[in-house]
Amino acid sequence: YCGIVGFTSLNYQSSPVLLKGLEKLEYRGYDSAGIFVPNSDEGMDQLVREKGRVADLEALVATKHVSGTTGIAHTRWATHGEPSVENAHPHMSNDGRFYLVHNGVIENYEELKETMLKDVELHSDTDTEVGVQVIAKLVADEGLSTFDAFNKALTLFSNDSESAYGFLLMDQTEPERMYVAKRKSPLLIGLGKDFNVVTSDAIAVLDQTKDFLELHDGEVAIVDPSEVKLFDEHGATVTREPFHLDIDASETDKGTYPFYMLKEIDEQPIVIRNLLSRYFDADKHVQFGSEILREIREADRLYIIAAGTSYHAGLVGGRMFEQWSGKPTEVHISSEFAYEQPLLSEKPFFIFLSQSGETADSREVLQQINAQGHHSLTLTNVEKSTLWREATYALPLLAGPEIAVASTKAYIAQVTLEAMLAYAVADQAQLGFDLEQELSKIAVDIQGIVDDKETFKQVAEELLVPAQSAFYIGRGVDSAVSLEAALKLKEISYVQAEGFAAGELKHGTLALIEKGTPVIALMTQPKMALLTRGNLAETQARGAKAYTIVSKSIAKANDNYVLPDTIDLLSPLLSVVPTQLLAYYTSLGRGLDVDRPRNLAKSVTVQ
Ligand code: F6R
Repeated sequence: YCGIVGFTSLNYQSSPVLLKGLEKLEYRGYDSAGIFVPNSDEGMDQLVREKGRVADLEALVATKHVSGTTGIAHTRWATHGEPSVENAHPHMSNDGRFYLVHNGVIENYEELKETMLKDVELHSDTDTEVGVQVIAKLVADEGLSTFDAFNKALTLFSNDSESAYGFLLMDQTEPERMYVAKRKSPLLIGLGKDFNVVTSDAIAVLDQTKDFLELHDGEVAIVDPSEVKLFDEHGATVTREPFHLDIDASETDKGTYPFYMLKEIDEQPIVIRNLLSRYFDADKHVQFGSEILREIREADRLYIIAAGTSYHAGLVGGRMFEQWSGKPTEVHISSEFAYEQPLLSEKPFFIFLSQSGETADSREVLQQINAQGHHSLTLTNVEKSTLWREATYALPLLAGPEIAVASTKAYIAQVTLEAMLAYAVADQAQLGFDLEQELSKIAVDIQGIVDDKETFKQVAEELLVPAQSAFYIGRGVDSAVSLEAALKLKEISYVQAEGFAAGELKHGTLALIEKGTPVIALMTQPKMALLTRGNLAETQARGAKAYTIVSKSIAKANDNYVLPDTIDLLSPLLSVVPTQLLAYYTSLGRGLDVDRPRNLAKSVTVQ
């Protein structure tokens, strides 16, 4: 949830690197932030923490005396303890020697407090402070070295519990060294000349380095300015080749856009073109590893597993696998599947959808099905992420870094890639359309929709900005898009919104319709559009303000927004775009921070 940056160098100032890194990570979690820069000179400030945004921390740092060539930093999304300065990281041990930042949860921290820290005064409500006090106590009481105390503490944190962590520890007496540990939370070491960095997300440090060393669960590292030592959970040295990340630092900048979300909506045509050029060869045939296609073909049932927007992309993809490829497909919310596994078929194959590749709920399922010996494919935007590494196969979404908390282009990429996979295993002659051609046309058509921004700005301002609640309705694949449209609206504009299968309204929800309630109908499926029109009329009869988004071939004169036609199941690629723009302009119209909605974080690494 939170963001971590650490930096150690021989002669560069650390605080600019740490603060810039935190700015990039702020989108992952943001209710307080802090840095620790060791410097034992008289009058220097080492630990600076502030509630609020990274900009608030920066303003505070500017008034302090912070100087040094190493340091650790953190931006927090509260799990244990409310957002406050006391609960912000880094946390310090009472002897002032150890400083710790942490991503994840030490599940047994209450128990550790009772057993090990009975006599220790604590200054925050966090599990992380318990962590650093435990380390200090092991050093003081048992005479352990910092490294040994760190390792011992890790076993205590993991003991009989499912703790997830990315830790970055500094010892005041070794001011150039960082101790690093990872379990279930993402953490990478970035390698430089005369410096090294540690981060929970590569985008935080791309302007420092593009060469990274991945850490596996249970591993511990000692990071000095010119050396990185890596150990497995039994203490044995690990040698691992670094990997090079081919992302341009400028891809993570907003450029002239006011918000990342708008930039990412605008990038959607490029995302489809990226996927087309990667996955279609010169002869316009879909290219995937033959193993992946064989597994899908041989499976008697597909299980698509995902959360949030990715789950909504799964609801679309599931229909493609069933209707195009004739493959029975179930789509599941990962946090449900993980604790109530349905009966599986004889020969299941799993497809995980995840923008970040780090979602803890989805990973829980992946670990379970790995243990059961099933095979899987992850579609993710982050190569080398946890779900990428732990699945049998993985394919990149090629959407480029998605930074706004609300996911847009990753959804488009997921639906596109699912379409390509379903098409690749289908009887294409029988399907009777050319997917490459259709997707190329859709890329152009999305461009047309995003060029209509003014239209959606106006509709948002009139219909949604003043609304208390709103409904999206549709049938078939339009009901899946309605769920995504409603999620987008509620997460960034805080309008209470529901996405509904249009036919279900009359079975209860219709009671919520009042005079002026906005109801937006998505109608792209010719065989169901008339029925949806009927359901919309039922809401209008009760005072709803209706707005229609309709495919051209079935549009009527009084429809509000007309989408270009496409293959039925590809229509979500078009119909979702107006709903993204409506959510964007509603958030903007309500004066909210579009990219950083309250209470949310980009990468959800707790269950
Ligand atoms: C909503 C949103 C979330 C994510 C969900 C899964 O806009 O972004 O609902 O889709 O947290 O995240 P990933 O796809 O990274 O597994």
